[in-house]
Amino acid sequence: MIDASIPELPDYGEAALEQAFAALEASARTAAANLSGEAQVETFRLEWLGRKQGRLNEISSRWLKGAPPEAKKALGVRFNALKTVVEGLLEQAAGAGPSDAALKAEAIDITLPGTRRLTGAEHPITKTLNEIVSVFAALGYSVGVGPEVETDFYNFESMNFPPGHPARDTQDTLVVANQERRPLRDRLLLRTHTSPVQMRTMEQQPPPVRIVIPGKVHRNDAADATHSPIFHQVEGLCVDTNITFSDLKGTLDHAMKALFGSSVKTRFFPSFFPFTEPSADVQISCIFCGGKGCRKCKQSGWIELLGCGMVDPGVFAFAAQKQPAYDPKKISGFAFGMGVERIAMMKYGISEIGQFYAGDMRFLGQFA
Ligand code: DAH
Repeated sequence: MIDASIPELPDYGEAALEQAFAALEASARTAAANLSGEAQVETFRLEWLGRKQGRLNEISSRWLKGAPPEAKKALGVRFNALKTVVEGLLEQAAGAGPSDAALKAEAIDITLPGTRRLTGAEHPITKTLNEIVSVFAALGYSVGVGPEVETDFYNFESMNFPPGHPARDTQDTLVVANQERRPLRDRLLLRTHTSPVQMRTMEQQPPPVRIVIPGKVHRNDAADATHSPIFHQVEGLCVDTNITFSDLKGTLDHAMKALFGSSVKTRFFPSFFPFTEPSADVQISCIFCGGKGCRKCKQSGWIELLGCGMVDPGVFAFAAQKQPAYDPKKISGFAFGMGVERIAMMKYGISEIGQFYAGDMRFLGQFA
């Protein structure tokens, strides 16, 4: 209970009033000066200004109400002056700054570890893709891109897959629906390889061309440990006068050594692609066993990694429709294409292709 006891006034004379109010003001000032913390300020407020038990209320009912009419004015003036002083003291005390409790709640323990903010990092596919590109950039290749939604013409026909050619069946294609009314060459599909960008590049510029084309490709293939319907390739194209198969071999041998280490060997196996003649599959000596034979290379000592070949004259013929300088009698070139996932899996010893797309931070964090 708040002690709001107020003495009796001896009389309503000037001297008595002066003394009584001076004493009250002094006690209010002393009390206010010693306040610390919100709780004490609140107690002071209640003690002086509380509606029911506050001292000012008490003064009003005990001194003012019973006062003779001629003393009321002098009393009222002093009462209001005291009230103003108390209110001022309260305002000062309340505004003096946050209480100890408030300060404690806001305090920072500088010995605690800070909040760790994760820095973004390249995805292993992007990282591998950039690595492959930079190997060729160092050889003077430029970098190009093309659309992922491609026409039948660029994806197949201009790459020397004529309509109905069985080689089309090697790339199970996702096509955009409801385009039967368009001529076949204009129908849209999700590109099955980055090779169409070879043609787009040649249409844009006469030889010489040295370009690598990284990008996403799509095939209607079932996903398994090593296949995904969406994956990435890096395409390469080099066209100039007197480009030979030796240039192709030397370039890819260097690239494989740059990517997998200088002790890696390469060998070229005959293969078939409609857009190259002759065509080859490139194998590298097994990076796991060094070529001795292990489970990863099926005891052969070699791992097949990419396709390549000399640009087919039929492809140059399509390019020559827009850029006559692509005359196979005057120029020659080589091309290659590699799967980025496959190379990343080899480099980092990953056995499940799905890991690349799952978005699991425990997996991705290892490449940061
Ligand atoms: N486009 C081929 C594929 O997706 C890969 C390829 C092979 C690209 C040989 C080439 C090449 O440029 O010369 O299977």
